[in-house]
Amino acid sequence: MKKICTVVGARPQFIKLAAVSRVLRRGFQEVLIHTGQHYDHNMSEIFFEEMDIPKPDYNLGISGGTHGQMTGQMLMEIEAVLHKENPDMLLVFGDTNSTLAGALAAVKLHIPVCHVEAGNRLGTFENPEEVNRILTDHVSSLHLVCTASGVEFLKREGFSSSIHLVGDPMYDAFCYYSAQLDGSELDELTGFDGVKIPLPDSLYYMTCHRQENTDTDEKLDQIFQAVNQLDAPVVYPVHPRNRERAVRLRAAGGYENIILTLPVGYKASILLVHRAKKIVTDSGGLQREAFFAQKPCVTVFDYAVWPETMVNRCNQLARRDRGDILDKLSAPVQFDPDYRPFGDGHAAEKIVESIQTFLN
Ligand code: UD1
Ligand code: UDP
Repeated sequence: MKKICTVVGARPQFIKLAAVSRVLRRGFQEVLIHTGQHYDHNMSEIFFEEMDIPKPDYNLGISGGTHGQMTGQMLMEIEAVLHKENPDMLLVFGDTNSTLAGALAAVKLHIPVCHVEAGNRLGTFENPEEVNRILTDHVSSLHLVCTASGVEFLKREGFSSSIHLVGDPMYDAFCYYSAQLDGSELDELTGFDGVKIPLPDSLYYMTCHRQENTDTDEKLDQIFQAVNQLDAPVVYPVHPRNRERAVRLRAAGGYENIILTLPVGYKASILLVHRAKKIVTDSGGLQREAFFAQKPCVTVFDYAVWPETMVNRCNQLARRDRGDILDKLSAPVQFDPDYRPFGDGHAAEKIVESIQTFLN
């Protein structure tokens, strides 16, 4: 059996892994390397537990520090594992520091790299994930792409035969786990003070963690000012990187309409997507899930990461500005149920077929 080393480290990668690993392990030996980039229980272990992801074979325990420190340490440690395991291929997802470190370690050892979610482009190196995704694409042998726009970007950069349009494994996971939801996944929210809050019947779902939105009080405060005006409570599970700022700003601004909670597990998160009136986010994953569930979404970000979600204002970009966010939230939106740009919910099968063909 051929051996694949898969490198993951961050929350969205665990979700994609859940979809892909289930299929991959039918025909390959998978060795799973968790870099340790995300490490809190509800940023990491909770996903492995509730999505039945096999335990990592290696957890490198590398997190925090500067981007260079984190990526450099990961590169060294992954290289050591690859020397030991000698896989036929290395598999990475998305655009985190763990993705780049895995890809660089492998290509230097002449191990072919398969990049799932290849081809996304913003057009600016100010975004740290853009650096990771472009460099990863340029050292990868197999480019597995979620949507047609990704194929176009890669072709413009000179790739051709290595590109396969497979659909989005996030959509696979969304379909698979949505079918299992029965409402018991989240009946109450846990605030940072430990207080339990019943889940409101009517709600907005918000996540906001990007450094572009959370590195100063002023930026996050504009977003809080906007969503505090909405006509139902806003449930905001906070990423640990901006927890302190979010708690302080909410108290200072008296933003009673915003419910801050610990990060929730995946099933609770997609339950919130299904229950929400609308979604406010800067997450690449959540803006797609809003689209999958046909919920209007406002993405507070300067660039369209997933242009397919933006037809008919289904997902709109907003500036970090109270008025602009509220304007976008009130705009009329129309979903076309026949427009399915993220595949058929079976991207994992196509990913594994592409790997099989490549290795044969
Ligand atoms: C990373 C990804 C980003 C992705 C996000 C998903 C990069 C460059 N960015 O950003 O694309 O959207 O993951 O959630 O890789 N922390 C904890 N506990 C944890 C995880 C993080 O306390 O379990 C804190 C640490 O102080 C850490 C900070 O959050 O320094 C930022 O974490 P990091 O992994 O560097 O970046 P993310 O913002 O999570
Ligand atoms: N998510 C979650 N719990 C939360 C917030 C988000 O499970 O408290 C899920 C969300 O449903 C989506 C994924 O995490 O599937 C998105 O990850 P994140 O926003 O961290 O990263 P990005 O997609 O922006 O890279």
